[in-house]
Amino acid sequence: MSIKTAVVDGVATIEIARPEKKNAITRAMYTQLAVAFDAARENPAVRAVLLTGQPGIFTSGNDIEDFVQRPSDEAPPSITFMKALIACDKPVVAAVTGAAIGIGTTMLLHCDFVYVSDEARLAMPFVSLGLVPEFASSLIVPRLMGNARAAEKLLLGDPFTGADAVECGIANAVLPASEVVKHARRVAERFNALPPGAVRETKRLMRRGRSAAILETIGVERDLFGARLQSPEAKEAFSAFFEKRKPDFSRF
Ligand code: COA
Repeated sequence: MSIKTAVVDGVATIEIARPEKKNAITRAMYTQLAVAFDAARENPAVRAVLLTGQPGIFTSGNDIEDFVQRPSDEAPPSITFMKALIACDKPVVAAVTGAAIGIGTTMLLHCDFVYVSDEARLAMPFVSLGLVPEFASSLIVPRLMGNARAAEKLLLGDPFTGADAVECGIANAVLPASEVVKHARRVAERFNALPPGAVRETKRLMRRGRSAAILETIGVERDLFGARLQSPEAKEAFSAFFEKRKPDFSRF
C-alpha cells in the first residue's frame, strides 16, 4: 500500500508513502488517492484533509516507468485523482515535506493551504521531459504570478524554493522540516471549531469564478499531454532518466 490514510480528530490524513522511489506516483496510487479523497469528502466525521509525503520527499511526480508503459487509449487515473481533489468541498491542507516535482507541484495549485518544508524544492519540468503542463497549471500559474515568473517555471522548468512558492502565491508559509506536518495538521484541526456548511459553501464560492476555465483547460492539456507522451522528444527524455544521463535534444 503506497497511499496511507487515517482519520483522527476530524482530519483525514492522506500520505504518499513510496520512499524507495521518491514517492513517484503510479497508476494504482492515483486510483488510491482518488478513492481516499472521495472517502474524505463523503465521511461526515471529516472536517478537513491533510495531504502529505515522507520526510525529505513530497513526491517526485508521475512514475516515469508508468509514462513509458501507459496504454495510449487508457483514461489516465491521474485525471480521476485530480478531479477528486478539485471536487473535494472540504479544506485541503498540504504539508510539502520535501521535493515536489511535476504533478507534485501541480496538485498544490488545487489545495487550499500549502505549507512547505525549508528543505523542499518545487519544479514543473514538463518541457524538459518533452511534455506540456497539466491539470490547468498552464492557466493557473501565469494568473497567479504573471507571465515572466511563470515562464521561468513552465518554459525553463526552473526549480524553486518554498520561499519562492510563498512569494508567488503557491504556498502559505515555509517551516522547518520537523514542523511542517505538525503545523499543517494544526491548521486542518481548526476546522473542527468552524461551521462545516459555511466552510463548504465559501470554498465553492472561492472557486466558482474559475472552475469552468479550469476544467476546460484540463481537457485541452490532457489531449496535448497524451500526444506528447508518444513523441520522440519525450522518449529521449525518459530514456535519459533511466540511463542516468542528460537528455540530448539537439537532433529535434
Ligand atoms: N519515476 C520513477 N522512478 C523515480 C522517479 C519518478 N518520477 N523519481 C525517482 N525515481 C526512482 C529513481 O529511478 C531511483 O530508482 P533506483 O533506486 O531503482 O535507481 C529512485 O527513485 C531514487 O531516485 P534518485 O534519482 O536516485 O534520488 P535522488 O535523491 O538523487 O533525486 C529526485 C531525487 C526526486 C530529485 C530525482 O529522483 C528526480 O529528479 N526524479 C524525477 C522527477 C521528475 O522528473 N518527475 C516529473 C514527472 S512529470
